[in-house]
Amino acid sequence: MSAIPLSEAQRTEIKQAAAILQSGGLLAFPTETVYGLGADADDEAAVRAIFAAKGRPADHPVIVHLAQTQDLTQWATEIPDQAWKLAEEFWPGPLTLILPRSLRVKDVVTGGLPTVGLRVPSHPVAQAILREFRGAIAAPSANRFGRVSPTRAEHVRAEFGDSLPLIIDGGDCEVGLESTIVDCSGSLPVILRPGAITQEQIELVCGLPLGSPDANATRCSGRLESHYAPLALVEIVEPQDIPSRAAHLLSQGRKVAVLGPPNDLLPAETDLIFLGTDAASQAHELYAALRKVDDLGCDIALISPPAPLGLGAALLDRLQKAAGTRVPKTK
Ligand code: TXA
Ligand code: MG
Repeated sequence: MSAIPLSEAQRTEIKQAAAILQSGGLLAFPTETVYGLGADADDEAAVRAIFAAKGRPADHPVIVHLAQTQDLTQWATEIPDQAWKLAEEFWPGPLTLILPRSLRVKDVVTGGLPTVGLRVPSHPVAQAILREFRGAIAAPSANRFGRVSPTRAEHVRAEFGDSLPLIIDGGDCEVGLESTIVDCSGSLPVILRPGAITQEQIELVCGLPLGSPDANATRCSGRLESHYAPLALVEIVEPQDIPSRAAHLLSQGRKVAVLGPPNDLLPAETDLIFLGTDAASQAHELYAALRKVDDLGCDIALISPPAPLGLGAALLDRLQKAAGTRVPKTK
């Protein structure tokens, strides 16, 4: 858990948050990955209200957030050694484990699936709410269905306006991409969604290569095409081709953003948004940048593909989803 002390104002908000959860309400809160839209995981009506607020289909399961690893046995059964090892190594932190659900888990949480997604977040505010509330929090990302996840409190306000009773501002989310999801309900652990905990790290802890995702596992909305999409088109372009592609699009009257480093070859009319040089800062900045692209009224954002190693694999995954199927394939 982070050692950052909570301010007096935050402590008041945390008490308010616990009261809201106890009375069946919703609130937005920070985690180390993205902001979550939370409700009491034991309260069926409250969890239903999350789906209504997000406009999310009822068959998309939500993650249950726990205060500590010991709580796992209340929410999951048949927990394999691999899952305990991963929990011990990476919790609290940006990892979600999919496990066979216990009797405590309501159907509304899992969309009727026999498994449940569980995670112990490390963000001090998320931890403090969980401990004050003394329950578990069902929470998807705090965005409307299919939109970019929020990494700042102002993004949540942009999504939901004043319709939520409480949005706790915990600053920028440290990671900036959603948690790594590892399905531990089968014979081999499988990564369903890459994130800050990388395949290499997971393999090292498990001591075996991971299985490949089942083509039928479409219930994980993070795996649907064209998820996490901004309004603008996103196009993944090799770095050397970005200036000419930008010039071509501008000549067609399109408003173009480039998410990348300054480049003298770029046309002056391009809106440049620099995400930083390493994968960690690019992950941290990506969703804020995609929102900015829309705020600037750009029609299209060009970005070069990150190397698909470590956190780069998660970045590439989100970029491909943001690009979806809408990207013109030709230059
Ligand atoms: O970092 C995160 O995971 C954030 C923060 C708020 O914790 N949450 C998040 O939740 O990204 P959401 O609902 O936006 O994405 C959770 C993903 C969905 O794609 C959902 O389908 C998948 O987890 N999921 C949840 N339970 C599952 C299950 N039992 N089997 C397969 N996928 C599951
Ligand atoms: Mg989401």
